[in-house]
Amino acid sequence: MWTSVVLIIALVAGRVASDKFTALVELENILQQERTLAERLQEYIRVEEQRLDQLRDIAASMQEDNQRMSSDPVAHLGNPVNAFKFVKKLSVEWKEILNTLVLSNHSENFCRDVNDITQHFPSEDEDYPGTVTAMLRLQDTYALNPNDMAKGKLPGVKVPAVMSAHDCFEVGRVSYFEGDYYHAVQWMQLALEHYQDEKEKTISQAEALDYLSYSTYMQGNLYHARNLTEQWLQLEPEHSRAQSNLAHFEQAIKEKEEALAEESRIRVEREAFRNGRFEHDPDAYHATEFFQTYEALCRGEDVIPIKDAHKLTCQYRVWHPMFTINPLREETMNFDPWIAVYHQLMSDKDIDDIKALATPRLARATVVNSVTGELEFAKYRISKSGWLKDEEHPTVAKISNRCSALTNLSLSTVEELQIANYGIGGHYEPHFDYSRLAEVTSFDHWRGNRILTVIFYLSDVEAGGGTVFMTAGTKLRPEKGAAAVWYNLHPDGTGDDETKHAACPVLTGNKWVANKWFHERGQEFTRPCGQSPNS
Ligand SMILES: *[C@@H]1O[C@H](CO)[C@@H](O)[C@H](O)[C@H]1NC(C)=O
Ligand SMILES: *[C@@H]1O[C@H](CO)[C@@H](O)[C@H](O)[C@H]1NC(C)=O
Ligand SMILES: *[C@@H]1O[C@H](CO)[C@@H](O)[C@H](O)[C@H]1NC(C)=O
Repeated sequence: MWTSVVLIIALVAGRVASDKFTALVELENILQQERTLAERLQEYIRVEEQRLDQLRDIAASMQEDNQRMSSDPVAHLGNPVNAFKFVKKLSVEWKEILNTLVLSNHSENFCRDVNDITQHFPSEDEDYPGTVTAMLRLQDTYALNPNDMAKGKLPGVKVPAVMSAHDCFEVGRVSYFEGDYYHAVQWMQLALEHYQDEKEKTISQAEALDYLSYSTYMQGNLYHARNLTEQWLQLEPEHSRAQSNLAHFEQAIKEKEEALAEESRIRVEREAFRNGRFEHDPDAYHATEFFQTYEALCRGEDVIPIKDAHKLTCQYRVWHPMFTINPLREETMNFDPWIAVYHQLMSDKDIDDIKALATPRLARATVVNSVTGELEFAKYRISKSGWLKDEEHPTVAKISNRCSALTNLSLSTVEELQIANYGIGGHYEPHFDYSRLAEVTSFDHWRGNRILTVIFYLSDVEAGGGTVFMTAGTKLRPEKGAAAVWYNLHPDGTGDDETKHAACPVLTGNKWVANKWFHERGQEFTRPCGQSPNS
């Protein structure tokens, strides 16, 4: 049953408390918590300052009394009242001061409050590496120059932000611990460049050289790694790891040189070895032409010419009474597979309703493992999503009815409305909406496969975040209120390979979408088998 699948999603999602980087709406919430934290911190400082003011007064009056009495101790302490006061002050009163004003600071209360306020803050072990990975994904997908990124020169940004040497260092450090030496080298180099320009230094040069030299070595550039280690040793001549690394690199260089010297014909290789170029070494899938095409499409490059592009048209359409007053503004984006966009299909008011209903139940999106059939989190799908039922709100039901009128399909086997929000760098790598044979367990048999997809864009996105079709070459830009529609299955019910599509990483902005998936069963009268969608 589909409902049980939805339930599993909820359970799995509930297990992970911290994954704040996956949706921008999460970070918006945390902004409020940070405001509360800042207010509580101010309050704490006020109370502590009062306490210190009191102690300052006490210390001052103690000194004053002491000086006065020291000038003539006998006269002062000879007075029994003074003697009494003196003893009282130093025995009872002093202990009181110690207990109330010195030992009882307010940090305990403060820490307890802070724990409550910060419990939903981004986590160091998941969210932090997650955002770094997202930044590097943007760097790769959109072929951004890290130098420009560090200077905050990014497409679509409204508020510029620059990175300090420490910011760059951290991106490099997290990459290093993820085993991504390619990006580690780039960002550590950048950190060292920024270090030169900084008046107030934010990093240790030696530490950056430590990471940089080792990452360089892991990238296979022994000569450069040796040079960097020598630079590091100039700063910290006694550093034992630097010394042993240097010895190790020298030995490795010697062995490699000897191996290359034996065959003089490979002089070219030796030159290449000495010059040590850095090669990006992504994993096999990301290095494929297919993935490169995906990234190029996301950048908006016309890598695949659209067939019959000149015949693609825009037209008003009224094939259902629902569209009589407000005709559909249909734009054909591709013929085979047929992909259409309907502009201004959802009003701002409806969008607000949907977002408000969905926000409290967003959970990290899962994918079906094609081997085990189980739902799991995956790096290739980064977003948060939630499901809305027609019964929950008239707007949700209205959208279902509109989808049915739009597609001529029956709602009897349709899925609930899925709402998704993407954080910065949020994406969904190339995939099919229909399930292939191996994973057919994910859709139950009575419902059939996903015959058609309607995707509503609930926001504009300043840069990135497009929907791209890998074989057709079609690129859709998110446009608030518009919806894209396509059939996932051929009329005979087999999957259409050319509907493989992807959600490009969000570069700048906040991406919201709503998905409605129609299934095969129940459509026998509206889309009989063997009938093509356009006949
Ligand atoms: C503040 O109070 C806590 C708990 O009573 C104690 O552990 C801590 O050492 C105190 N700190 C100072 C600076 O007095
Ligand atoms: C290493 O340093 C030497 C001199 O210190 C220089 O001649 C050489 O080009 C450097 N090699 C690399 C790969 O930077
Ligand atoms: C729905 O039916 C109308 C009229 O028959 C047709 O023009 C339109 O293309 C159909 N829509 C889809 C999504 O197949």
